[in-house]
Amino acid sequence: MKVLVAGATGAVGRHAVQQLLAAGHFVRALSCRPEPPAGPGSQEPHAAELTEAITLAGSCAGIDAVIACAGASLHIGAIRQRAGFLHVDLQGNRNLLAEARRSGVRRFIYVSEDIRAHERISEEVATSGIPSAMIRPTRLFSACARWLPWARAGFVPLLGSGAERTNPIHEAEVARACVEALSGGAERRTIGGPEIFTRHRLAEMAFDALGKPPRLLVVPPALLEFGCSVTRTDVIAPSYGTLRLGDYLRALTAVAGSAPSFWRR
Ligand SMILES: NC(=O)c1ccc[n+]([C@@H]2O[C@H](COP(=O)([O-])OP(=O)(O)OC[C@H]3O[C@@H](n4cnc5c(N)ncnc54)[C@H](OP(=O)(O)O)[C@@H]3O)[C@@H](O)[C@H]2O)c1
Repeated sequence: MKVLVAGATGAVGRHAVQQLLAAGHFVRALSCRPEPPAGPGSQEPHAAELTEAITLAGSCAGIDAVIACAGASLHIGAIRQRAGFLHVDLQGNRNLLAEARRSGVRRFIYVSEDIRAHERISEEVATSGIPSAMIRPTRLFSACARWLPWARAGFVPLLGSGAERTNPIHEAEVARACVEALSGGAERRTIGGPEIFTRHRLAEMAFDALGKPPRLLVVPPALLEFGCSVTRTDVIAPSYGTLRLGDYLRALTAVAGSAPSFWRR
């Protein structure tokens, strides 16, 4: 199968590319700054800015299926420099969907998040006429790892009480669900990992992985609008993943300098 992966350099996208190549598929790897093809398999980089439809022209030519797992970075520098979160996640994915329709793509897999922009584009994907599947993970391990630099620096800021629960999932397992969805199956799938944690415990785990005593700085939720929405609800999905967050964080801390920088998605 010929598969376009949008967001190919991201946490989920990287794994999707690797898994597709390992299974013998052709991959067109789309991102703003595509990496040179690496490893075995047939891979073609494609540079495009999702919010600029013209840069997507031809990206889906000859493609059987799209895995859409691009999203705006929450990295502070990236927010200043590039298109905003809603613009990329809503308009950018709209542009990609339109290009896929024009090129006769036969399957569209969309990785969605529990936020309004993703709800809207999920509806548009579902009614696009292209057979589609929506994969909705709870929270990625890579997002949990964003607390490591804070913990290393001395404290982790926690929005609200931290009592809300979730079962985060490894991005490789989200990628696997996307690859599985290429061959059909459930139209909407919510997936989580094997263990449920409060957000308070997730923050403590960053210290555990570094072998440091936890120091949390509780921040009133009113300070951050986005933070407010994620601090008020549990986000628990049927367990799909088997890999464990504690192992993931310990592995990251074992490799010097490999932890993501502040606020990097
Ligand atoms: N983080 C979570 O806990 C979570 C939970 C549920 C769902 N999700 C969703 O899962 C998807 C994948 O998340 P992730 O953490 O793997 O993302 P990520 O690591 O932040 O990677 C984002 C990818 O999107 C690309 N991208 C960003 N803006 C773009 C633009 N304007 N045009 C073209 N490409 C662009 C990036 O390319 P560059 O490398 O060139 O910047 C990168 O390849 C996202 O849609 C996210 O909303 C995330």
